[in-house]
Amino acid sequence: MDARFYNAVAQLSDVGTVAIRSLRHDDKERLLGLFRRLMRRSIYFRFLGEDKKDVTPDELAYYTEIDFENHVALAACLNEGGEERIVGVGRYTVSEESKSSKSAEVMFCVGDEYQGRGIGTALLDHLVRIARTQGIEKFEGRLFASNSRMFSVLEKSGFTLKSVKESGGIVHTEFSIKK
Ligand SMILES: CC(C)(COP(=O)(O)OP(=O)(O)OC[C@H]1O[C@@H](n2cnc3c(N)ncnc32)[C@H](O)[C@@H]1OP(=O)(O)O)[C@@H](O)C(=O)NCCC(=O)NCCS
Repeated sequence: MDARFYNAVAQLSDVGTVAIRSLRHDDKERLLGLFRRLMRRSIYFRFLGEDKKDVTPDELAYYTEIDFENHVALAACLNEGGEERIVGVGRYTVSEESKSSKSAEVMFCVGDEYQGRGIGTALLDHLVRIARTQGIEKFEGRLFASNSRMFSVLEKSGFTLKSVKESGGIVHTEFSIKK
């Protein structure tokens, strides 16, 4: 599987479907659109309390210019009024240290008006599929303990979480994605 050209369709929990595809370098405006529509609460959870007001050009380059080896990112897209809109993003990164433990750090963000419809769950499912083909055996992440929606996505997807409390209400959580 070449993750650079990943393309799938996922069923939403209400009606309809969402396209899940590799994030591309030409997605900068669409990604910015997703960020700028996010509510403070979602920014707080995604960026672990950082009061992030905007995305810099360098950050936007980092978020969209993906090598699909050490950094894999998928966009969830809906067609609205004939235009493709990115309504969610899931990504994982593999650091030098995490290579030996075959683990990757995973992050998600779904636009507020689209949350609770299964998009986060679909992004996780497709990231797991790609990660398995790349020999990754474990996902990990740092989450606010109060992020019940994210924990619910992970648990309902059937993963057994191993969580360790850090400071500031943050939990380091990891789970095996081995079949
Ligand atoms: C966490 C996040 C990615 C989940 O995405 P999503 O598309 O809403 O997730 P889903 O719709 O697949 O699943 C949400 C689940 O959360 C649960 N849920 C729904 N509303 C909830 C609420 N208000 N409180 C707690 N849990 C809730 C449900 O169990 C739901 O599953 P169900 O529909 O099967 O019952 C999304 O809410 C988000 O982007 N949040 C802000 C950023 C963030 O927290 N990122 C994670 C850290 S990197």
